[in-house]
Amino acid sequence: MSHLAQFGRIDNTANADYFIRFLDAACAEATFQAYKNRMNELLELKPGSRVLDVGCGTGDDVRIMAKLVAPGGQAVGVDNSRAMIAEADKRSVGTKLPTAFKIADTLALPYTDGSFDATRADRSLMHVPDPALAIAEMKRVTKPGGRVVVFEVDFGALMIDAADRVLGRKIINAWSDSVRNGWLGRRIPRLFHEAGLKEVAAVPHTLSLTPEIALLLVGQATVDLAEKNGTITPNEAAAWLDHMDALQREGRFFSAMTGFLVWGNA
Ligand SMILES: C[S@@+](CC[C@H](N)C(=O)[O-])C[C@H]1O[C@@H](n2cnc3c(N)ncnc32)[C@H](O)[C@@H]1O
Repeated sequence: MSHLAQFGRIDNTANADYFIRFLDAACAEATFQAYKNRMNELLELKPGSRVLDVGCGTGDDVRIMAKLVAPGGQAVGVDNSRAMIAEADKRSVGTKLPTAFKIADTLALPYTDGSFDATRADRSLMHVPDPALAIAEMKRVTKPGGRVVVFEVDFGALMIDAADRVLGRKIINAWSDSVRNGWLGRRIPRLFHEAGLKEVAAVPHTLSLTPEIALLLVGQATVDLAEKNGTITPNEAAAWLDHMDALQREGRFFSAMTGFLVWGNA
């Protein structure tokens, strides 16, 4: 079974559709759209701007930014997944928008210094081996004085209204610890300062999670992992999955998660 913690190496999973479906479901939520809209305002895009999205996924945000930089500008998306870039290209066919997509690693951006007016990363840095280097790369390719914006979640701030608090903590920790940088949200402001970005600011945004989205994080795949590594017993695994089913059936499922929108100037 695919596990969302594999977002850093989608092409090795042979199940890219699973990740694409997750992105489409999450991005359709009003609370995700709200912080994404704010992110676009913070980028201060205007016709003629060149903007880079690092870890662009399906490219939906790149196409929105392309409308803001036309005419004369360009919105570029890079992602280390061949499957994601293929999806981004497919979704852009016939749009006539000024977009470009490229397979590239966040840790070695294939652009010269100061190539972009603004740079952003949305929920992608948690998957990279070295987020500090990723932010240094984003700063490097941004013109001096240009805007760098990151949105990153923090799975230490993931909440589910579960009856068994001890078991709930074990499952949430199992998910958080399975992601390469599960607590990255809270670290981004410090990493911005350490990268030498100026006028750094941060605001929290809380996202509501439907059962379908939340259970991709703390459902079967994470339960299997936690059981395999001995964090939970088979009885606890069954009890958690039964409880999640019951909450959904009874319309009582409630889950939310906080992330941080952080910006600064190169
Ligand atoms: C959770 S998705 C977010 C996608 C998009 N930013 C959005 O908001 O819908 C994370 C993306 O980062 C990409 N990614 C992960 N590690 C990467 C790396 N080292 N370099 C470039 N992209 C990476 C993944 O392939 C995936 O498309």
